[in-house]
Amino acid sequence: MNADRNRGKVLVTGASSGIGQATALELGKRGYAVAVHYFHNEKGAEETLKQIREARGEAIGVKADVRHQAEVERMVEAIVERFGTIDALVNNAGSLVARVPLLEMTQEYWNEVFTLNVNSVFYCTQAVARIMTRQKGGVIVNVSSIAGRNGGGPGAIAYAAAKGAVLTFTKGLAKELAPHGIRVNGVAPGVIQTPFHDRFTSAEQMKRMVELIPLKYAGTPEETATVIAFLVSPEARYLTGETIEVNGGLLMD
Ligand SMILES: NC(=O)c1ccc[n+]([C@@H]2O[C@H](COP(=O)([O-])OP(=O)(O)OC[C@H]3O[C@@H](n4cnc5c(N)ncnc54)[C@H](OP(=O)(O)O)[C@@H]3O)[C@@H](O)[C@H]2O)c1
Repeated sequence: MNADRNRGKVLVTGASSGIGQATALELGKRGYAVAVHYFHNEKGAEETLKQIREARGEAIGVKADVRHQAEVERMVEAIVERFGTIDALVNNAGSLVARVPLLEMTQEYWNEVFTLNVNSVFYCTQAVARIMTRQKGGVIVNVSSIAGRNGGGPGAIAYAAAKGAVLTFTKGLAKELAPHGIRVNGVAPGVIQTPFHDRFTSAEQMKRMVELIPLKYAGTPEETATVIAFLVSPEARYLTGETIEVNGGLLMD
């Protein structure tokens, strides 16, 4: 296990719950020093920090609203002050915001979904890429969604389009940053049991979705986190521009 220690410094956005929390813990256990990012859910972030430290990992908490570029830049500066650098970034923070059909959609809702799910990825990536290009190396993993591939479930068109943008951004970034020694990949989770679904999916909807999954259960945050950790790790050194489906077989490309 000791050989895995001191793997580098990683920022995980949205590490206060669900997939981000499990990813921060997984990377902490594997020997990365983790910046645990949160916005509303300070308690959740404290729980993440506690679990990483109990696993004898190193972690700090950082707060920012990822919808605001200036806040993201301040957060990245604060991490560099504490850690010295950032070697890996997991762009995980995001949300469906609400289920809204096209004819009921307002411009405010559309902008909110894109600001939270797409602009935030641009802000975090640009701020961290300044450091990674200087040090000539790094890894970025973007959390997209099955919705970005198949158009999403009921009332999720804006979210699906936003996650599709994240998928495309991942490919373009991979090409642009490869000469700097930076790999960029993504995961596209299917139905993962997190507070996301507690908020946006009824028990009846969840039951219907699970029936369609060949593996017959909703994935766990940990089952997504291990794939993200693989993409961050040197074991994935020849992978870039790829988004891996983590969906129990629900969509096969
Ligand atoms: N669960 C699924 O089935 C599923 C499927 C496909 C893709 N995804 C994607 O996976 C990612 C994680 O989702 P999850 O299921 O783990 O949901 P979750 O438990 O609701 O976690 C969402 C995270 O995003 C953060 N966040 C939300 N708004 C923010 C803001 N304005 N500024 C900063 N952080 C913000 C939250 O932090 P605070 O609460 O601290 O604000 C939280 O840590 C999201 O990008 C989601 O779209 C999830």
